[in-house]
Parts: sequence; C-alpha cells; structure tokens
Amino acid sequence: MNDRLRANVLRMTPYTPGKPIDEVKRELGLTEVVKLASNENPLGPSPKAVEAVANAAKAMHLYPDAWGYDLKVAIAGRFGVGMDQVMIGNGSDELIHLLGLVFLESGDNVVIGAPSFVRYDAAAELSDVELRKVPLDADWRHDLGAMASACDDRTKLVFVANPHNPTGTVLTHSEIVAFLDALPEGVVAVLDEAYFEYSAGLDDRLDAVSLIADGRNVVVLRTFSKAYGLAGIRVGFGISSAAIVDAVNRAREPFNVNSLAQAAAIAALGDPDHLDESVRVNLEGLSRVAGAMREWGFETVPSRANFICVNVRGDGGEVFQALLREGVIVRSGVPLGMPEYIRVSIGTAAEMDAFLSAFERVVVGVGV
Ligand SMILES: Cc1ncc(COP(=O)(O)O)c(C=O)c1O
Repeated sequence: MNDRLRANVLRMTPYTPGKPIDEVKRELGLTEVVKLASNENPLGPSPKAVEAVANAAKAMHLYPDAWGYDLKVAIAGRFGVGMDQVMIGNGSDELIHLLGLVFLESGDNVVIGAPSFVRYDAAAELSDVELRKVPLDADWRHDLGAMASACDDRTKLVFVANPHNPTGTVLTHSEIVAFLDALPEGVVAVLDEAYFEYSAGLDDRLDAVSLIADGRNVVVLRTFSKAYGLAGIRVGFGISSAAIVDAVNRAREPFNVNSLAQAAAIAALGDPDHLDESVRVNLEGLSRVAGAMREWGFETVPSRANFICVNVRGDGGEVFQALLREGVIVRSGVPLGMPEYIRVSIGTAAEMDAFLSAFERVVVGVGV
C-alpha cells in the first residue's frame, strides 16, 4: 500500500454495484437471468430520449454545453424556479459528492440515517469529517427527532432520502417541515428525492421544492436514473438557493454532464406518458410482491420507491445466493444494513413472475 494515500480514503468501502447479468450468466452457466438489483426502470428509456441521443451523437465531437442551458431551462420551467437555482450533475451521485466538497471542512459533521444511501458516507469520508449515523425507527423510517437532536453547530449537512433507500419508506410534508423547524440554524438539509415520482398520489406528499421558495435551507436532489429510465447515461439535478448552486458550479468539473445526457434528459422531461406508465407498472409490481409475500407469511417494508424489502426471516445473503442460482439477481440486505432482508427492484410483470416463482421454490418451498 502506498503510504502517501489518505488514511480516510483507505478506510472507505468501495461501492458494490448490483451484479451484472452477463457476469451471473458466465459464473453460473445460466442463459436466462433477471436483474432486480439496481432500481432501474424495467421499461427502458423513453423512445423520445433514445431519438434525442441519436441526434445529439452527430455532434459528439464538440464539447457539451458546460452550462447545460437548455436542460436547466427545461427543469426551471417544470419546477417554477430560477435557472440560477438549478444544478446538474453526472447522476445525483455527483451532486452528493459536490455538496460534500463545497460544505465540509475539518471539524464539521454530517448527519444521516442508518441504514441509508452509501454515497452520503462517502461525501463525509472524503472530506474527513465526522459522520453521525442515526438508526431508523422500528418501521424503517427516519427517526427525524433523533436526527435533529444529533445536529449541532458544527453540522453542515443532514441527508434525508425520501422515499428512502434501502427501505422505500416515505416521510410526509408535515413531518419534514417539523424536522426543518427543529434543526439548528444554518444546517443544510439535503432532501434526496431520487424515487420521488413513484410516490405520486400519496396524502401530504412532500413538496420539497416549495420549501426552497419558503426560504428553507434545503437542497432537493432528483435524478433521471429511476422513473425517467436514464441510469446508464448519468444525469441528475438539484434545486436550491442561487448561492448554493453557485458554489457547486465553482467546484464542479466544467463539462460534468455530457451532451448525450443533456439531450436525453430534456427529451425524457417531455414524455410524461412514459413517466406515468413507469409509475403505474411500478405500483402494480409493488402491490403484487407485497401481496404474494403476505400470502406466504413474509413481511415486507411498505415502499413507495421502485423496490421493496422482504424480511426472509433468516440470512438475506443466503437467500440472495439461492435466488442467484435460480437466475434472479436481487440485493442481499447484509451490506445494506438489513441483514434479514433482501431488496428487490420492481421489474416488468414477466420479471416479477420469475422472481416470485424462484422465491417460492427456494424460500417458501424449503420452509424458512
Ligand atoms: C437515494 C439515492 N440517491 C441518489 C442515487 C444516485 O442516483 P444517480 O446518481 O443515478 O442519479 C441513488 C441511486 O440508487 C439513490 O438510491
């Protein structure tokens, strides 16, 4: 090991992505493999986005628009905010990273839920600051009271994913407002809404963008990777005060969102039918899995994201391996901080058939 490397970087656990389909086929000699591990959109991208990428490809010898003008106009128009309040990133992952860079200095701390999305840990680790992890409550929801109490005058960022990952649980608008009221002055609440679109229709649904208009100290993160079906091309965005967006713009790489991604995102925003269908298929899949598990006597965590956690009443890692051998890739809850669970992304009806029949064979059938 090189002794010049930063110790806190060496302490970090590299991100483990969902297992790729081809790797599983190769390793297990399978021909049919279904991947329900990375919360991707099973319907694929909007055809309009595919067409926009093909057109944009003709100009890929040119650098992208460093400012992302057209995309920011589209986002600002959609959300009723100023263009100077919109930041775009190479996935919302990059924006999480950049928020760490622009806010965190030695002696600061970051507050997150536990378990939570792993990239929040990385933002803190990379800046060498204290990470305060506050356990979720008994219903796998953020314990907002405990999170507010964990903040002090050195807390710069508090991350709240809503719907949450890895649990899929949802907080209401009133709960978030009460939480913001309880935070010490100056703490920036990062409301990560990667799965926002899937929570359509809920009562008292969080309207995070309106909090910015109310002058709250928040950053709202959204992504094109989930309901918009563009995970592979990497584009996410954030909405906040002009001052925070300006700071992120100073720190980011000039061409952080490539021209194909910008074109795809604009086209995806212009295809509400694809979005609606994605949300509909997801809801159907969620209730189907929850229903089947209920019948078999397995608990699920109530989810309004595009995945659902199943309590397998045993080792989630073993069930993950058993399903893998059946050609179904899910996520073991072990590295996600839910060791008795598996996390299953919602796929097409056919993919859910494959998952449910594999689960029936290797878990229900063996009487766990
Ligand atoms: C809660 C949460 N935030 C952010 C992301 C990052 O998404 P992306 O970088 O693809 O926009 C994810 C991805 O799974 C997520 O679950």
